[in-house]
Amino acid sequence: MPSIGAKRRFRSPAPPLSAASPPTRKSLRRCITATPNSVPTVIQKIDTDENKVESHESNAVKSRWNPKDVEQLRMAKEVLHMSTAPSTIVCREEEQNVVLEFCKGCVEHEKAGSLYICGCPGTGKSLSMEKVKDNLLNWATQGDFPLPDVLSVNCTSLSNTSDIFSKILGLHKSLGKKGSGTPLQQLQNMYSHESPTTNMILLVADELDYLITKDRAVLHDLFMLTTFPFSRCILIGVANAIDLADRFLPRLTSLNCKPTVVNFRAYTKDQILRILEERLNELPYIVFQHQALELCARKVAAASGDMRNALCICRSAIEMLEAEIRESACSLNALEEKSSSEQNLPTAPDFVKKQEFDMVRIDHMALALSKTYRSPVVDTIQSLPHHQQIILCSSMKHFRGAKKDTTLGELYKSYTTICKSSLIPPTGIMEFSNMCRVLNDQGLIKLGQSRDDKLRRVTPKIDEGDITFALQGIRFFRNCLQ
Ligand SMILES: Nc1ncnc2c1ncn2[C@@H]1O[C@H](COP(=O)(O)OP(=O)(O)OP(=O)(O)O)[C@@H](O)[C@H]1O
Ligand SMILES: [Mg+2]
Repeated sequence: MPSIGAKRRFRSPAPPLSAASPPTRKSLRRCITATPNSVPTVIQKIDTDENKVESHESNAVKSRWNPKDVEQLRMAKEVLHMSTAPSTIVCREEEQNVVLEFCKGCVEHEKAGSLYICGCPGTGKSLSMEKVKDNLLNWATQGDFPLPDVLSVNCTSLSNTSDIFSKILGLHKSLGKKGSGTPLQQLQNMYSHESPTTNMILLVADELDYLITKDRAVLHDLFMLTTFPFSRCILIGVANAIDLADRFLPRLTSLNCKPTVVNFRAYTKDQILRILEERLNELPYIVFQHQALELCARKVAAASGDMRNALCICRSAIEMLEAEIRESACSLNALEEKSSSEQNLPTAPDFVKKQEFDMVRIDHMALALSKTYRSPVVDTIQSLPHHQQIILCSSMKHFRGAKKDTTLGELYKSYTTICKSSLIPPTGIMEFSNMCRVLNDQGLIKLGQSRDDKLRRVTPKIDEGDITFALQGIRFFRNCLQ
């Protein structure tokens, strides 16, 4: 009996579920509108200036988020939970369309066929297949086509890889016929003879690489089922490896039956940002500063393009804000207690009391990101003396856009501007030049040669994203980096 093969892929670790009760796969929008007491998702204009906030994306007016409100906090985390199905799946329209059109063609012409969907973890493959199944059934119902029977199998749930054949046979068994031989043989037999009364079946085999056995027989037999003359099987296999079909289905290739491959590319920064915004749009208030979401999207896109990571990091950033609120409440209490016990002391200053925590900021996001992605470059930047960090920050401003290098003299001007705007006395040019040499030695910038120090060329050696990421958690740089 074939055994389950080792999983040959790199999967993103399942992020921890931090909410008390893990939400189920459901649409929050549906859920919100269904509860009579909850806030309606229709965004209403709110008259009081105090409560209104402009959304970056749509300029719609949303109310202020109150992270101290347990229910509002729970809702914000829930829209970002990966098991909460979004009401609209953006950025995967093209891929879904290719799969849907393929399935429609098979149903319309009652023709079997196979498709292989691949892509890195968290790129929306499984999510998209759910949507395609729904759309196919709607389309068949509206067009009066015979409805295919749908079978979704996560191959990791099979005790034996060959159980996939019993599952397929089980669907056809509604015909009541009892055959002889193994389930695979019965299917091969069935698909070799004409039987117009048998329904087409759509089989979505997710995590298909679990079917890779030593002799590769199961995977091969499964795809071969779609090549029998009277096969009724539309097979959609889903896994990570782009070359799975080439490596494990060579005979299918030689028979010219190689499945069409649909590649789900890793999400780009803009796509991650759009998906996050779309999910957060379900809430009637603004939870994140736009720059915070942008930072998350940029970092996740550069690292993996895995949407699970982006969602997990955003939830973690909310937790950073929660921690800040807790800390500030503690220090406020301590201050109040002290002032009431020592009667002469004034009460906590108003600005401490009034401190507002109504949005997840860029520094919360930077902290959440640093929990997930640490790199030697980021560590080095974070452990630099403050003035060297300011030099890196000013160099980043120079190298934004098309500029590939600058001179030490020019860099010194930007450095002094940042220092002066923050009321920090800048160092002299000699000291500055020494600090640049240290940064050059650490591989953070490249310093060219020149007799005149001021004319030495300075070129970037590290990613702008790493500088932003490393410094954003430090309050001083919050304004400089934007
Ligand atoms: N386009 C999208 N819009 C909204 N949410 C998305 C989108 N893509 C992915 N997600 C979120 O990311 C989660 C992971 O996506 P999905 O399970 O589809 O990944 P996958 O490509 O099947 O990954 P794996 O290869 O690890 O199985 C989804 O549950 C969903 O919450
Ligand atoms: Mg999946």
